[in-house]
Amino acid sequence: MSVRIAPSILSADFARLADEVAAAEAGGADLMHVDVMDGRFVPNITIGVPVVQSLAAVARVPLDVHLMIVEPERHVGAFAEAGAAMISVHAEVSPHLHRTLTAIKELGVQAGVVLNPSTPAETLEPVADLPDFVLVMSVNPGFSGQRFIPASVAKIAAVRAVLDRAGSAAAIEVDGGIQPANAARVVEAGADILVAGAAIFGTDDPAAATRRLRQATTAAQHIQ
Ligand code: DX5
Ligand code: ZN
Repeated sequence: MSVRIAPSILSADFARLADEVAAAEAGGADLMHVDVMDGRFVPNITIGVPVVQSLAAVARVPLDVHLMIVEPERHVGAFAEAGAAMISVHAEVSPHLHRTLTAIKELGVQAGVVLNPSTPAETLEPVADLPDFVLVMSVNPGFSGQRFIPASVAKIAAVRAVLDRAGSAAAIEVDGGIQPANAARVVEAGADILVAGAAIFGTDDPAAATRRLRQATTAAQHIQ
């Protein structure tokens, strides 16, 4: 499957969310990435269930909900009901990761595990056959507009190796500091889904920026 582009609305104008989503969709966005932060697991507070519900009513592409919250298992049901098509939880705050991933899948939603930059790929090993996707953080979560951590490239390949050993075809999503200039490297390392906030909604023309990011990944796919 070709690389999917998931614009992150964290960098969008929250007063014009429907227009921002429509612009990214016009540029060919495949998913809409929604960053939920609680001010505890990460320093920032963003949005919650009601905004996901409103987005679900206007978005034509599936909603990819990234939970940066403690005790995510308490909230996955509400986000599924609000219209999330994909829900990811951080390994660092999920002592019962096997149970949480199973619960997400039972809700009929794609389940993802997120790994912070300092969390090793091997953390996935005991549950590697379960997730539908693995989200590799390429910045420390909390804010848009941070710089891509170069060690993430090797981490993506390490995650692919863990998944392959488990016989898993789970997709790899990469989130943080993605720009047209580094998209090719990330895709070559094994990324299937690219999240981009500042590179899309930090520009005057999110549709053109989405197209530019896809062009950068297409170049990488030709090299493979
Ligand atoms: C960071 C969030 C990201 C962020 C990406 O904690 O999980 O999804 O919005 O934004 P950029 O692409 O600007 O790093
Ligand atoms: Zn995110």
